[in-house]
Amino acid sequence: MDWKNKNVLITGASSGIGQALAKEAVKQGAKVGLIARREDLLKNLVAELQAKGGTAGYQRADVADRASLTNAIFALEQQLGPVDILIANAGVGSTNTPDNLKLDEAEALIKVNLLGVIYSIGAVLPKMLERKSGQIAAVSSLASYKGLPGAAAYCASKAGVNAYMESLRIQLRRSGVRFTTICPGFIKTPMTETNKGMMFVLEADEAARRMVAALQSRRKIYNFPWATTRLTKLARFLPDWMVAQTVDEHVGGQGAETVGKR
Ligand SMILES: NC(=O)c1ccc[n+]([C@@H]2O[C@H](COP(=O)([O-])OP(=O)(O)OC[C@H]3O[C@@H](n4cnc5c(N)ncnc54)[C@H](OP(=O)(O)O)[C@@H]3O)[C@@H](O)[C@H]2O)c1
Repeated sequence: MDWKNKNVLITGASSGIGQALAKEAVKQGAKVGLIARREDLLKNLVAELQAKGGTAGYQRADVADRASLTNAIFALEQQLGPVDILIANAGVGSTNTPDNLKLDEAEALIKVNLLGVIYSIGAVLPKMLERKSGQIAAVSSLASYKGLPGAAAYCASKAGVNAYMESLRIQLRRSGVRFTTICPGFIKTPMTETNKGMMFVLEADEAARRMVAALQSRRKIYNFPWATTRLTKLARFLPDWMVAQTVDEHVGGQGAETVGKR
């Protein structure tokens, strides 16, 4: 699918994968509407994209706040036109502490990573259904396929995204609206800069290039890179002790044995 003059809305565009996606989308000729909380970063990115001849706008919003997000998306539609492609990318990482059962943290993470995706879709889907066209993508994670020790809320949030997207995709298969769930492995971004246990790491711009190509070819699910995908799928069949030991070795003694002990 050609992205020339398509209106692409990206949440979480102030940093990391979202920022790289905005640059890649403009490179492909799309107009981009950008959402995040850090306005200074969005403003600079829009200026950079416009300086390269791109069309871009931004609105500040917290994706966990339904009213503010919906207003922001409507304001961007006034500026750039109806959304053709939504990439619900905003997300926060797991703190990976033994205290993963801290309920306030878990609640905040689920609000951003799962409800933020649901609210973003809710703001654009009705109009896409009226027009019988559009594409909705959610950035999930390979961590959605396995409940990893030390990342309970994160894995649950991403598994929730997968299920939500799958359900809509099947229900709306004849609606003209396409759904793509994107599950990246480790990508070098501010979210992962202190993560020492990463393997098969991709740069954000390479990840964005692959993600846009997957969206253009209308993949239903895009898991990448290949090696991490294989390892994650294999982990589903490993005994718990082996998963715990592997995670302990990679993230430094924060595996299953520590969860719930405080
Ligand atoms: N990096 C990886 O290895 C990796 C792997 C798999 C999946 N992912 C997923 O990829 C997505 C992007 O992550 P990243 O690695 O690019 O991280 P990042 O560099 O930390 O970027 C996260 C983005 O989300 C935005 N965001 C966070 N909370 C928000 C909120 N409440 N409202 C609005 N925007 C919010 C941030 O903007 P503000 O702070 O300005 O609001 C930022 O633009 C996430 O969903 C993440 O779970 C990442």
